Amino acid sequence: MAIRDILQYPDPRLRTPAKRVDVIDERIKALISDMFETMYDAPGIGLAATQIDVHEQVVVMDISDNADQPQVLINPEIIDRDDACDIAEEGCLSIVGYADNVERPIAVTVRGLNAEGEAFEQRFEGLHARCIQHELDHLAGRLFIDHLSALKRNRLRRRFEKAARQRGEPPLKTGAV
Ligand code: NI
Repeated sequence: MAIRDILQYPDPRLRTPAKRVDVIDERIKALISDMFETMYDAPGIGLAATQIDVHEQVVVMDISDNADQPQVLINPEIIDRDDACDIAEEGCLSIVGYADNVERPIAVTVRGLNAEGEAFEQRFEGLHARCIQHELDHLAGRLFIDHLSALKRNRLRRRFEKAARQRGEPPLKTGAV
């Protein structure tokens, strides 16, 4: 097990869409184990492989208070969304130091594979549903700030680009937010 580096916005690699996992082999199991270690260390309640620069459809989550309910989603797809939405504050381990309100459906039904490669279909509600939607956005190369207004996104991009320059990272070639 190892703690991996988490990519930080505005790193353009966060915009890479993840590919489906074909075989759940030792490599994927090691990835899952590293993802849990990285998420619990942060600490966070969810992590997508995209965030550690692995562009495969793997998500780990644990929204329990005691960090004792780990959950793995491989090749997850949202197959149904409630019409009803709510608004709640979100943050992201890849956008440290910023949180904002995001509107999302209050419940979703997800189909995918668990850590053993068994198919599941499950309805999630509340924080669980919100976390899953946030992590599935990552797998598609989206970030929670994409749900904000263009004005807010532009302001944030400038702020985080400046911070990246101050850390000595090269300027971005893309206009990705
Ligand atoms: Ni995130």
